[in-house]
Amino acid sequence: MSGNCSQLMVRVLSGSRCSMSTVVWSFVGFLLMLHLYSLFSHKDATSGEIQLQVTNHPSFRELVEVEEENIQIPPPRGKRSPRAAKRRPKRTTTLIDEFLDENSQLRHVFFPDMKTAIDPMKDNGNDSFYYYPGRIWLDTEGAPIQAHGGGILYDERSRTYYWYGEYKDGPTYHAHKKAAARVDIIGAGCYSSKDLWTWKNEGIVLAAEETNETHDLYKLNVLERPKVIYNENTGKYVMWMHIDDCNYTKAGVGVAISDYPTGPFDYLYSMRPHGFESRDMTLFKDDDGVAYLIYSSEDNSELHIGPLTPDYLDVSNVVRRILIGEHREAPALFKHQGTYYMITSGCTGWAPNEALVHAAESVMGPWETMGNPCIGGNKIFRQTTFFSQSTYVIPLPGLPGSYIFMADRWNPADLRDSRYVWLPLIVGGPADRPLEYNFGFPLWSRVSIYWHKKWKLPSRWTG
Ligand code: DGJ
Repeated sequence: MSGNCSQLMVRVLSGSRCSMSTVVWSFVGFLLMLHLYSLFSHKDATSGEIQLQVTNHPSFRELVEVEEENIQIPPPRGKRSPRAAKRRPKRTTTLIDEFLDENSQLRHVFFPDMKTAIDPMKDNGNDSFYYYPGRIWLDTEGAPIQAHGGGILYDERSRTYYWYGEYKDGPTYHAHKKAAARVDIIGAGCYSSKDLWTWKNEGIVLAAEETNETHDLYKLNVLERPKVIYNENTGKYVMWMHIDDCNYTKAGVGVAISDYPTGPFDYLYSMRPHGFESRDMTLFKDDDGVAYLIYSSEDNSELHIGPLTPDYLDVSNVVRRILIGEHREAPALFKHQGTYYMITSGCTGWAPNEALVHAAESVMGPWETMGNPCIGGNKIFRQTTFFSQSTYVIPLPGLPGSYIFMADRWNPADLRDSRYVWLPLIVGGPADRPLEYNFGFPLWSRVSIYWHKKWKLPSRWTG
């Protein structure tokens, strides 16, 4: 190589090193900008302002206080002979074993008795409006609320909240040895409230079919997770629900309509949406009036989402497969400042498991999993969604960024005695799990569900 030539090479190399570092620094700068943008982009000026005021309010601060639980697992019952102890060391019980054991000494911790029931009709003094997750919750007539796997409709016309759910006030049994615990269909129950705490029983708005064995609502079948939305175009209240046989092999959705939120609802038909299996499901009505059906499919290994027809009586021919291979059920969707969020559970029958939160820029996806939203309690509380399973998220328009997480604490030994776990859900702050795209920077705000033994909404929660 000649001297001139090698000088030229050095110049070229140093030139490329300089442009390389420019590229690297520009990239780092870009990532930083992206990070800052992702932290602040979801706060539009007006609602951001309101949120600040609300989050400074002392009763809001109570909602986000982290509350620990320290439940001691009782010592094993009965003495074991030294020989037996040698043969097979006794498996230590976990809090989940205790929860599932109907004879556990800790039963009262998870399923406190009638003496501690929430009774909005008695003089509660300073205890008014407090939610006690897991306690029996009485309606205005003093009967335990029966609205399991439920959802809430806020009816603008009557300015009333309606809570629909499975009315399960019957005996629990197994249809056969391998079948899941069940209660015969009684129907979908409906309760009304102005304050989300005092609930009046509006009766069974869609009743079981007692005699016709070929009917979807025949009492020996399954009706789960009813959800109701209002259609502005037709003026009808439309209910969708999971319809199944006692072995969960039918895997369909049913549709019913009514002119009134309090029914009675006329049952129309069931179907396999888009030709696919559908088990746990929910509805989500977007701000533009388009409603979506979200359901667990393909043996619960994935979720499907698709818009309903404008009359909400059928699915359209558009559908997306989401969270493929993630085995999620019990979906509950909500929207915050243009971003869609969804809470789901794992698939372990009536036993509790870990919740996950997912987020998406478009309701049709792609959806990305952000992690476990549960905060407080203790590790097992967080791994079991506070011993409950998601069913719905209630928006509180007067408190931007604040929602009520609604979940069921199932009691598989006596399903009618399953409890409600309502907790504050707050959207805010960066997510704690690096996401697949956006270069590992948080794209969405964190979703947090705070455990509380007792809590209430801040006094100015209405919109
Ligand atoms: C879990 C589902 O989320 C419930 O709705 C119910 O279908 C149970 N499985 C039945 O085991």
